[in-house]
Amino acid sequence: MRILLLGGTTEASLMAQALARAGLDAVFSYAGRTDSPVAQPLPTRVGGFGGVSGLVDWLRDHRISHVIDATHPFAAQMSRNAIMACAQTGVALLGLERAAWQPGPGDDWHAVPDVAAAVDALPKAPARVFLAIGKQTLAPFAAKPQHHYLLRLVDPPTGPLPLKLTTIVIARGPFDVAADGALLHDHAITHIVAKNAGGMGAEAKLTAARARGVPVILIDRPALPAREVVATIDDVMIWLGHADTERGV
Ligand SMILES: NC(=O)c1ccc[n+]([C@@H]2O[C@H](COP(=O)([O-])OP(=O)(O)OC[C@H]3O[C@@H](n4cnc5c(N)ncnc54)[C@H](OP(=O)(O)O)[C@@H]3O)[C@@H](O)[C@H]2O)c1
Repeated sequence: MRILLLGGTTEASLMAQALARAGLDAVFSYAGRTDSPVAQPLPTRVGGFGGVSGLVDWLRDHRISHVIDATHPFAAQMSRNAIMACAQTGVALLGLERAAWQPGPGDDWHAVPDVAAAVDALPKAPARVFLAIGKQTLAPFAAKPQHHYLLRLVDPPTGPLPLKLTTIVIARGPFDVAADGALLHDHAITHIVAKNAGGMGAEAKLTAARARGVPVILIDRPALPAREVVATIDDVMIWLGHADTERGV
């Protein structure tokens, strides 16, 4: 058994720890989007594979038998490539996918299908928007230049941003409710735009928004072709046939 773990999430880092504890032969893969990625307890490679064909070659060259896709739910291109490359090579594929967030009492959420719809959902009158969507899809919000945008990024931007009125906060998750509540207060935030990522690491802003009555425009996850998916690290270990090792029995 030789495993490729596709990472870039808190869950992927926890998965790497479980694989290392179990003594499994595994390689961790980062896209290379951040300047200083979290160190992993597994041999780590960084950078794209070169599309489906590059991934097919990589899987064969490295004699991979199992791929665990623990990428972010919005990293749909990587997930699609993994589905196609594993189908072509006969490598077993499992998605580790956290459940989407669901609204509860007191939440003022507006679900939208994509980034363009999130731009449309913002008001016409000037607002103070916490744009909690990373740095890759900021440009469409230039269509609503009347708003002030608070951006929370992992690394300082290296070039000019496509938005005029911005405040940038540099921070890396996981985030907590008290700090996110203070962020909403200090920046007088009137709206939040976020991706429905699920999981614990980025949920604090939603809890803080509920407490402060701030509306949230929540972008739905992109659809993926059918694949086998589990929600927990324990279930991945069972899939790998190492459930007992993981639980320390
Ligand atoms: N999208 C988000 O909102 C978000 C949020 C938090 C973290 N992340 C993490 O950031 C990374 C990039 O996300 P994205 O949305 O840009 O992905 P994406 O749009 O699905 O992927 C674009 C390309 O980046 C490369 N890539 C992505 N993930 C990779 C990985 N784990 N290892 C090696 N190459 C990878 C692949 O390049 P090739 O085609 O050349 O192989 C892929 O085709 C992922 O690791 C993801 O888990 C994403």
